[in-house]
Amino acid sequence: MPEFLTLDDIDVRGKRVLVRADLNVPVKDGKVSDATRIERLAPTITALLDKGAAVVVMSHFGRPKGPDPKSSLRLVLPALRLSLGGRDIAFAEDCVGEKAERVVSGLRPGQVALLENLRFHPEEEQNSRDFAKALAESGDIYVDDAFSAAHRAHASIAAITELLPAVAGKSMQAELEALSAALEHPARPVLGLVGGAKVSTKLDLLRFVIGKVDVLAIGGAMANTLLFAKGVAVGRSLCERDMAGNARELMALAAECGCRIILPEDAVVAAELKAGVAARTVAISTIPDDMMILDIGPKTVASIGAALDTAKTLVWNGPLGAFETPPFDQGTTAVAHKVAELTRAGQLRSVAGGGDTVAALATAGVTQDLSYVSTAGGAFLEWLEGRELPGVAALAAAAHRA
Ligand code: 3PG
Repeated sequence: MPEFLTLDDIDVRGKRVLVRADLNVPVKDGKVSDATRIERLAPTITALLDKGAAVVVMSHFGRPKGPDPKSSLRLVLPALRLSLGGRDIAFAEDCVGEKAERVVSGLRPGQVALLENLRFHPEEEQNSRDFAKALAESGDIYVDDAFSAAHRAHASIAAITELLPAVAGKSMQAELEALSAALEHPARPVLGLVGGAKVSTKLDLLRFVIGKVDVLAIGGAMANTLLFAKGVAVGRSLCERDMAGNARELMALAAECGCRIILPEDAVVAAELKAGVAARTVAISTIPDDMMILDIGPKTVASIGAALDTAKTLVWNGPLGAFETPPFDQGTTAVAHKVAELTRAGQLRSVAGGGDTVAALATAGVTQDLSYVSTAGGAFLEWLEGRELPGVAALAAAAHRA
């Protein structure tokens, strides 16, 4: 794990602390529909306030091309206020310049301000040093609590760490510690569970994970491509036939690394992907020509369950079937329950992440039972590809300079 400083390493009393948050949360009908990221940020803000700091929060929200009321962080203000027990939050209509200065200069210790969307300025995504300087005017110390944006080399994440003392917030720290405990120095055996639609979008991820885990179970439509590469007839299933060569390379790599691969041995099939459609379970060697594989079957669930029984660590990304469309959620849900049970019993350290995975765990009702569920999408995937995340590298470099 890269070395980085934390809130314990700084004295914030009487200081203005600029917190990079990821308030890029889903909003429906003008309201935040999932406040998980905000709830994870709140302990960092509260800890800073309790230590006598004034806190200035900044974030991106959506992918606007310039100022756009639909992407205003005002929309997130009520949910942020709620997460801080109803505390007043001043809002600055710009993240830099006079409008920011006016709000930030009036802040006293114990008070919070939120700056308008960083991406209203194109210089943010250009990692502009001048823009970072303008942002740095709002703080004496910089805290990065946005792991889910750490894969972006943007001004508020990278350039700014060269201008202010820079440390990780509590949720960034928890995320880095959980991820590093899962892949860098894990208790073995380690089981990787990877699902999702396409091998092509997860080639780097699969290669990296194969080199790290002892057993890799693959589900979702991407398993069809591996099955096809092994000569299994997959009927009308989603399958990247042109990726068969890559799939064979992955299987060869696994054999070389001593990583056992678990592929589906049975499947739930149907003529179409539609809720409530007639579905049946068949052996993987007997997929009818006119049917498609839409979920793993009970034998595969049992095989994954047996691997889980002996595993000490689990890293999970991607659902194992078309979980948004019942009854094809059953395989993923059954495995999720098993993971939850073993984690609760203290037998398994379980780490999961990625948008669909988080949604599948929520559907199964087990989010709270896993050891760690990352709220990151792209950043979690890039971490699982073994890539250096600019936000994490910037904190490490800042710690090195300190
Ligand atoms: C996310 O939701 O994954 C992060 O907030 C990053 O957002 P982005 O993909 O728009 O940079």
